[in-house]
Amino acid sequence: MQHKIVCIFFGITIIALSCKVKKNNQKKEPKTRKTTSYITSIKPIIQTNCVSCHSGKNPAGGIALGTYKEVRFQTEKGKLLTRINNNTHPMPPNGIMTKELRMDIMQWAKDSFWHNDYNAASNQSDTLAWIFNPPTISPIDISKEGFEFFNLMQGHWVGDMNIMGTKYDWFSFDYRPISPMHIHGIYEGGTIGNLFTSFFIANFKGTKTIMARNGGILNGIYRTSYFVLDKVELTNKRNYFRLIDAYGGKDIMWMELEFIEDKLHFNSYTSRFGMNGKPKQHMRFNASKKHIEISNKVAKQLNYPQNKTEINFSNGLPTPVWDKTYPTITSASYIYKDTFNDLVLLGKLAGDPYPINKLPFLTSLKVNIEQNDKTKNNPLIIYLSKAPLTLANGKIILENGYIKQSLFDGVLSFPEITPNQTQFTFYYLHPSYYYLTVVADINRDGFISKGDVTSKSQFVYVNPKMQESITVKNINTDN
Ligand code: HEC
Repeated sequence: MQHKIVCIFFGITIIALSCKVKKNNQKKEPKTRKTTSYITSIKPIIQTNCVSCHSGKNPAGGIALGTYKEVRFQTEKGKLLTRINNNTHPMPPNGIMTKELRMDIMQWAKDSFWHNDYNAASNQSDTLAWIFNPPTISPIDISKEGFEFFNLMQGHWVGDMNIMGTKYDWFSFDYRPISPMHIHGIYEGGTIGNLFTSFFIANFKGTKTIMARNGGILNGIYRTSYFVLDKVELTNKRNYFRLIDAYGGKDIMWMELEFIEDKLHFNSYTSRFGMNGKPKQHMRFNASKKHIEISNKVAKQLNYPQNKTEINFSNGLPTPVWDKTYPTITSASYIYKDTFNDLVLLGKLAGDPYPINKLPFLTSLKVNIEQNDKTKNNPLIIYLSKAPLTLANGKIILENGYIKQSLFDGVLSFPEITPNQTQFTFYYLHPSYYYLTVVADINRDGFISKGDVTSKSQFVYVNPKMQESITVKNINTDN
């Protein structure tokens, strides 16, 4: 990783140097050149080449280019110039525009986004349509109702998952307490990233309520978003909880958890921070509670749950600082993009008010993997499970030709890493006993099965205080 960063820095220096050289060799421009105007030069280009996709209620990529301010915003702060000049992914997508048109837009940027009629620039049709007024959020006071959530949420939830249109028949979240008033679960996806949601008691602007911390790392972007409980419906059949964005409210994003007997329906709705209109369903997880003893054990140890405030946001959350990708702040989301994956540093740079180093009772486990001829060039899945998934000889424990279902349902974490990766770290890990099995997914079906090469399940104890590491050799049993 370090090597990569150095290269990127070098890359920038070299480009900067070559730019300088070029500029010095250029002939001076004639002084009589006319300033490029939005109305006469730029607007027609955008009208002809862009607005068919980038206007209306649901503009492509969430980017509107209908007005002076919108075009200026995307040119000045967004990726408009990069994309119109990108040969492999140009805008418009059907082919890069002529050099003259692109030069016009670049010249316009150099000319300070000249608009030959400033009244027109500020009149209604040409203003940035989007001014976001955050709603007033009315949290549920959990001294009165809703505290039962913390008991209901405990457990290893196993079921099916639909996330952003991708369906998984088997999925699990391992929810356990991490303090007397905080419960945490994570999907550790592996190289692609992870997704966690934890629930804790906070003083939110004077009300003792439940808040959620949701996010993770996806495609190299660190994000944590905060939600506030604003709706509770309790009957003897069904317990329903809704949590909404702690800044933008339900028009930006929200999640709902419905408990019916030992079943959980956990849905979330997002709007790309309001850029895609009203929130649409993003995740649907239908699950049954299993292995409650795992969570109960920790609950006992931590004296969970207690109806006390864990964190004080009596003045609300700090206002996030977002980069230029977003026109305006709409959400209690703390975002930072970089090439490294130091979660503490990313949390700091994102301004995350409750970063990983402050979360109580979580730990990490570094797994070193010895690749061999059998594992080479194959994706690997690392399983942390309640019980061994293999026999002492390393063979998968089968039932009707598949991994024994009751054992598989005891899988607590299941990251997949890219071929030839030799190291992976579980962060946000519950301190616990686990069995660890590494599987080379030879048949590419996405889970441990006949045809795959396995390591023998090994026992590992992850201490609450220490950062553990383990080395897996001998991933070589054929199944
Ligand atoms: C045929 C539809 C279409 C046309 C025409 C079109 N775009 Fe796009 N544009 C898209 C889509 C879809 C995306 C989102 C996917 C992507 O980034 O490739 C997008 C994304 C963008 C982005 C965001 C890029 C990023 O990396 O975040 C910019 C900026 C943009 N377009 C500018 C323009 C400009 C300027 C024009 C005209 C010169 C234009 N587009 C014409 C469909 C279009």
